[in-house]
Amino acid sequence: MPGLDPPAGLKPRRRGEGPGIHPLRKMMDCRVKRGNDEQNVFEDTTMTTHKLLLLPGDGIGPEVMAEVKRLIDWLSAKGITKFETEQGLVGGSAYDAHKVSITDDTMAKAKAADAVIFGAVGGPKWDSVPYEARPEAGLLRLRKDLGLFANLRPAVCYPALADASSLKREAVEGLDIMIVRELTGGVYFGEPKTITDLGNGQKRAIDTQVYDTYEIERIGRVAFDLARKRRNKVTSMEKRNVMKSGVLWNEVMTQVHAREYNDVTLEHQLADSGGMMLVKYPKQFDVIVTDNLFGDMLSDIAAMLTGSLGMLPSASLGEVDAKTKKRRALYEPVHGSAPDIAGRGLANPIAMLASFGMALRYSFDMGELADKLDAAIAAVLASGLRTADIKSEGSKGVSTTQMGEAILGELQKLHA
Ligand code: IPM
Ligand code: MG
Repeated sequence: MPGLDPPAGLKPRRRGEGPGIHPLRKMMDCRVKRGNDEQNVFEDTTMTTHKLLLLPGDGIGPEVMAEVKRLIDWLSAKGITKFETEQGLVGGSAYDAHKVSITDDTMAKAKAADAVIFGAVGGPKWDSVPYEARPEAGLLRLRKDLGLFANLRPAVCYPALADASSLKREAVEGLDIMIVRELTGGVYFGEPKTITDLGNGQKRAIDTQVYDTYEIERIGRVAFDLARKRRNKVTSMEKRNVMKSGVLWNEVMTQVHAREYNDVTLEHQLADSGGMMLVKYPKQFDVIVTDNLFGDMLSDIAAMLTGSLGMLPSASLGEVDAKTKKRRALYEPVHGSAPDIAGRGLANPIAMLASFGMALRYSFDMGELADKLDAAIAAVLASGLRTADIKSEGSKGVSTTQMGEAILGELQKLHA
């Protein structure tokens, strides 16, 4: 089974699409599904009801989630597609209500949903809660228990934002990379994971980095499958010069490539020098595949290339179920809860909205609607509207809500 089966009936995008195609269209799997009715190209003709679990979480999570709700309400009101939504608590807000970072009941709802839409968790308020109940534990449980091993973090620089990056325009203009982060293994979950009192005034902390062959193979396949629909190149990053897990990672990637994907270019880089290359010459990359911890760090670096952490969406996907052909999925912005700006209308809702766009594309077979949403985001940025994180001279500062409304307004125009 390929690591990332495209939804049925959609065709891969052509390589080498020229200018004029929106970067987010190029970024992902840009297969276009045409309805028969020209007036209603978005319409989900089967009108299946998609079950969503919304988990806004903490900090700016609820604010950016409100913009997704606005979009969902519009899609439903227009009869474009039907969503049945439930909402739950996760992170610090779950801790405040239930003394755990996610309840079993919410986990059951997440398992029953077609997709989980996740905001953000954490904040200084919960700094002293027990380690097992810390806000992040809720997110990690969702990833592990839903088997979401493949985390896709596309970093695309919108033309209008090339000057908002901390790098020079020429370094980032046209940037379009996909970080594929392994999400259910490695040092995040390896056992033992302990702090032991050695009794001599010293303590010892242990985290365990552990990977089995199958875990490296399946994430490798996701990366190679994605590369085939993009610019056909995968860069695998590890630290084989100091870590046994890096030696195995490198070996297994090389074998999967030779056995199943020798039409794709595979390069290996040490993760530290890969990080340096990301800020030196990021456009050399197409798909980067890496482990859980390196992927966490490298994707934050990649986010800044695009102008702001507030721009990066992500999809976390499980295996395709052999019977139902569905895969579990969670969609979340990369930015986190940003407690310093929470509740002030300053948050950028673009990463959250684009994450919902990834849900339309990867869970609901609505690639065309996702393309339109991406185009609406690009148009709003091109018109000069900016939230505080991407504000530059001559642009117009707007609030979270104003940005969300403007994007929906553009989408409505594109749908008209
Ligand atoms: C991310 C975040 C999480 C991680 C935290 C919130 C647990 O930084 O999704 O990148 O480390 O994976
Ligand atoms: Mg992170």
